[in-house]
Amino acid sequence: MSDKLTKAREYEVKKEAMIPEEQRPLFHLTPRCGWMNDPNGFSKYNGKYHLFYQYYPYETVWGPMHWGHAESKDLITWEYLPCAMAPDGEADNFGCFSGSAIEMEDGRQLLVYTGVRKEEEEDGIVREYQTQCIAIGDGVNYEKYENNPVIGADSLPKGAGKFDFRDPKVWKENGKYYMVVGNKTEDKDGQILQYVSDDGIHWNYDKLVIKNNHRFGVMWECPDYFELDGKQVLLTSPQDMLPEELEFHNGNGTLCVIGELNKDGDFCEENCQAIDYGIDFYAPQTVLADDGRRLMIGWMQNWDTCGIRRDDFPWFGQMSFPREISLHNNKLIQKPAREIADYYGKRISRQNVLISDSASLSSIEGRCIDMTVNVRSSERTLSYNKFEIRFADNGKAYSTIEYDPVENIVKIDRKHSGSRRAIVHQRRCKVANNKGEITLRLILDRYSMELFINDGEQVMSMGVFTDVKAEGISFKANGEVLMDVTMHELEKK
Ligand code: FRU
Repeated sequence: MSDKLTKAREYEVKKEAMIPEEQRPLFHLTPRCGWMNDPNGFSKYNGKYHLFYQYYPYETVWGPMHWGHAESKDLITWEYLPCAMAPDGEADNFGCFSGSAIEMEDGRQLLVYTGVRKEEEEDGIVREYQTQCIAIGDGVNYEKYENNPVIGADSLPKGAGKFDFRDPKVWKENGKYYMVVGNKTEDKDGQILQYVSDDGIHWNYDKLVIKNNHRFGVMWECPDYFELDGKQVLLTSPQDMLPEELEFHNGNGTLCVIGELNKDGDFCEENCQAIDYGIDFYAPQTVLADDGRRLMIGWMQNWDTCGIRRDDFPWFGQMSFPREISLHNNKLIQKPAREIADYYGKRISRQNVLISDSASLSSIEGRCIDMTVNVRSSERTLSYNKFEIRFADNGKAYSTIEYDPVENIVKIDRKHSGSRRAIVHQRRCKVANNKGEITLRLILDRYSMELFINDGEQVMSMGVFTDVKAEGISFKANGEVLMDVTMHELEKK
């Protein structure tokens, strides 16, 4: 084992012991210590889910990338495993960037990742090269392949750029290994390239999967590509987006392209949409569960909003709650993984509560809850023009979810959550026009809120860093609404 990896493994064990459990979310995975970004290698191995992550153990800011590692039986309770990789190879001396994992034919686990190498060129400029590398291991310890990289600049098709070439997602099909990789072309456009291999080690360029054609941002990061409900889906996270109505926002975004494969196996696009309409969600990755569910997890953070943080916490970055994804009418549907129900504690339910003005309901409060609120007009015609849920409220700090049934817009807002930075605090999302009826399901887990609208038609996620004792929840209507609320407290088993 290299000195760099030994040092990281020793450091994380010592540092983790100093972080009180109450300072972390109950279920959302945080780095063992230091910094976390993208989920990597979300996979099943030896009967457990494995989740690796972009990791810099030594500080709560991005640094030379390692791979952190955790495993779980049920997607919800995670246990840390030792740091899986450090940037200690020739091909990855500047970082082990994002990638994926799969079980090989011989039972070993294959990690596929982007090695980043810095090199000074003849003109004196230091450039960063990105190539695809592998490491093979037993679920805890991994050995980097001696002939890394396995895909270098020489296997790029014409017009592909050699500087932005990263985030391989691997899968097996018909006895072969495939991977998709994000690339920025020489003329600065995002595209996704596919490679093929017989053994997971020796790779050849296969085909171009899709080109951005300058529509959604520039570089396309972290692709994932799979069949879902009879369709073919591509997920990617574009950088440098321009906004489009309420569908896409500026900066780093998420994109889901739904389509079909034609008889030659080429991807034909049918529909493009955002994946998460909130503030903090990026670089999602999926795994196929044994029971056939496609599960997705994302980094519940965004590069543009990393300045909203708790300086008193020795960790930064968290994963989203794992989501079951499916398609309905060619649109992406997301639901919290059903395993959440195994962690339900006390249940509180109220039906047909009439709300006019502002109200709190006894026992409806908390920061670790799964709460579903159904709201509708109290009369045949629209009886209200605004509904609000206030949460993480201590009388001074609070966050809100607002629904406007006239414009059919949901807004999340953390402006008053205690943040002292002028960084995105609010985001709006267009929702279905159901004549004033909406279902809002909130998952709160100490430092985040994930909102599943109308059974997962849209999801909005955001970090909320208000003191965890701010547990108040209240409801408010401009006009009159009827509301059903069911809340489950979430508890560790
Ligand atoms: C996405 C990303 C990836 C890259 C990694 C580096 O968030 O920029 O493209 O592999 O983060 O940490």
